Amino acid sequence: MERYFTSQGHHTSSQLVLARHRILKPVLSLQDRARAEVTNGLAILANTAPAAFWVVWHVFEDRDVLDRVRQEVGRIVVVERGVGDGYGGQNSHEREGGRRNDGEGEEHREDENGDKEIRTIKLAKLKHIPLLFSLIQETLRYRACGTGPRFALEDVTLSDGFSSSYTIEKGAMLILAHEGMHHDKRVWGDDADAFVADRFVPGNKIKIPGNAFRGFGGGANMCPGKSFALHEIAALVAMLVMRVDFVPVEGSGGWSEPGMDEGNMAREHTAPKRRVLVRVVPRREVEGVVWRVG
Ligand code: HEM
Repeated sequence: MERYFTSQGHHTSSQLVLARHRILKPVLSLQDRARAEVTNGLAILANTAPAAFWVVWHVFEDRDVLDRVRQEVGRIVVVERGVGDGYGGQNSHEREGGRRNDGEGEEHREDENGDKEIRTIKLAKLKHIPLLFSLIQETLRYRACGTGPRFALEDVTLSDGFSSSYTIEKGAMLILAHEGMHHDKRVWGDDADAFVADRFVPGNKIKIPGNAFRGFGGGANMCPGKSFALHEIAALVAMLVMRVDFVPVEGSGGWSEPGMDEGNMAREHTAPKRRVLVRVVPRREVEGVVWRVG
C-alpha cells in the first residue's frame, strides 16, 4: 500500500481514495496512511457485501416475507410519466411499438408520446418500511460471527445484567463474541436461535437492551458507516424485490440453508459456505417500467 501511494496510484483511483489521501497527508505518516487505507477498504466493503447477501437471502427464501416486503416497498414508490433514460430494460422493440399489449392483458408502459412509466423508489422514505429495516437488523443479529476486541484502560467491574459480575484488570484484552451475545436466550427470548423477520419492528417484541445488539459494534468505536450501510442494503433490496424474482437453479440446493463460512474472524459477516445459484427473472408485472432511486 505504501508503494501504491509513492507510485501515485491514488491519482488514478476513486475520488474517495484521493480525497482521503489529501486530508490525511498533512497529519499522518506514509505508513499510517497506508494502514488506514487498508482498514478503510475492509471496513467499507468486507461486511456490507456478505450482509447484503444474507438480507437478500432471507427476503427471497420466504415467500410470505417477500410478499410483505414487496407491499411495503410499493408504498414508497412514486409513479410518473416521462422520457425514460433507458435505464430499466427498455428495448428498441418497445420503443418502436409504443403502447402495445402482450396478449395477457399486460400493457407495456409507453404512451403515444413515447413517454414511459417511471417508478422512483424514494430513498428519503426508506425509514417508513419497518419490516425491511427489521429484517436487515435481524439478519445482522442472526448472522453475526465477528468479535469486538476491547483493551481495558483501567480496572473495571462489569455486570452481566443478571446475577454475575466480572472484574476486568487494567491492561486486559477482551474479545466480545457477537454470535454468543446475539443468541443469548436470557436477552432475546426463547426464539433467540430462530430467524424472526419482524423481531425489530417497533412495538413487536420485548424491549432489548441497546448494548445487546452488536451488529455495528458499540461505544466510541461504533461503526460510523451504520446508517449508510442500512440504507444502501435497503435500497438494493427494495430495487430487487420490485424488479425481479430469483428462481433457484435445479440441483443447486434450492432455498435450503447454505451455511456460513466461519473461517474469517476479522469480519462481522461472512459469505455462504456453498454457492447459491439462482436465475434472475424480471417480473412481468413491471415489464417496460423505468426504475430509479431518488
Ligand atoms: C452491513 C455493513 C456493515 C457492518 C455489519 C459493519 C459492522 C462494523 C462493526 C461490527 C465494527 C466494529 C465496531 C466496534 O468495534 O465497536 C465496524 C467498524 C467500522 N466500520 Fe463498519 N460495518 C458495515 C459497513 C460499514 C460501512 C459502509 C462503512 C463506511 C462507509 C464502515 C466503516 C467502518 C469503520 C471506519 C469502522 C472502524 C470504527 C472505529 O474503530 O472507530 N462500515 N463496522
